[in-house]
Amino acid sequence: MQRSGKHYSPRCILVTDLDGTLYGDALDVGDDKLRGFNQVWRQNFEHDSLLVYCTGRSLAKFNELKAAAPLLEPDILICSVGTELYRSNGQLDSRYAAQLDSSGWNHAQLWSAASAAGSGLVMQASSEQRPHKISLELEADADADVALARLNESLSATGVPYSVIYSSSKDVDVLPLGASKGAALRSLIGEWSAAGLDDGDVRRIAERVMVAGDSGNDTEMMAVDGVRVCCVGNAKPELLRWLDDHCCARMYQAKGHCADGILEALRHFGFMLEDA
Ligand code: GLC
Ligand code: MG
Repeated sequence: MQRSGKHYSPRCILVTDLDGTLYGDALDVGDDKLRGFNQVWRQNFEHDSLLVYCTGRSLAKFNELKAAAPLLEPDILICSVGTELYRSNGQLDSRYAAQLDSSGWNHAQLWSAASAAGSGLVMQASSEQRPHKISLELEADADADVALARLNESLSATGVPYSVIYSSSKDVDVLPLGASKGAALRSLIGEWSAAGLDDGDVRRIAERVMVAGDSGNDTEMMAVDGVRVCCVGNAKPELLRWLDDHCCARMYQAKGHCADGILEALRHFGFMLEDA
């Protein structure tokens, strides 16, 4: 097994959400913030650090974004809210997918139950319906608490284990029990540790990780033990509420929006080699 190179001894592992975090500031005409981040990453990090994108998007929607925005190639890509792990060769990790199935996931039964959940929720586009993810959207005039309670009632009547993740005051993802962006990150940390990085000291690996996010589907990766956390300045209310309840020294709330906030946090945590 190769035990050198950035994949086995990364100085920093940035695990970042895309929409509303690395990308997507409405005021960032020309993607200047993203281009600024790319430049700093190339100078300070690319040679010895890992870049992991962790997005709610499906691979198809990620590829759409990649065609439209100047995103760097990630070392690892986590799609569909932590339910799909793609390696640097673009290959889907089938072992990880099999782990999700072992939770007792039954897509067909949960799909019927989600479809029957009643008014207030509609199914998202077919590109976002994935083998381990059923996604709905809250209708504009719907009461979120009522709609989510009805959905949970319908899903739990199946007896199939599941998790629900609510983001950006509209997106509702039904996932295998325990699946999340955080579960995907934990699996990667376990893998790096098994590969011999830092003699299997999981905690020291986690301390090299900085996760960045802006909404509800990012909280699970922020909760991973020992990781540094960047909440970007434009974070959504549900993430700010979560931070109020969980805030600690390893969590940093940036003033800067999107990519600017990520750079601010990398500096705050001392990951920057020089002030670029
Ligand atoms: C992305 C996905 C969508 C999901 C949302 C929140 O927008 O495309 O399916 O519901 O993230 O996780
Ligand atoms: Mg986001």
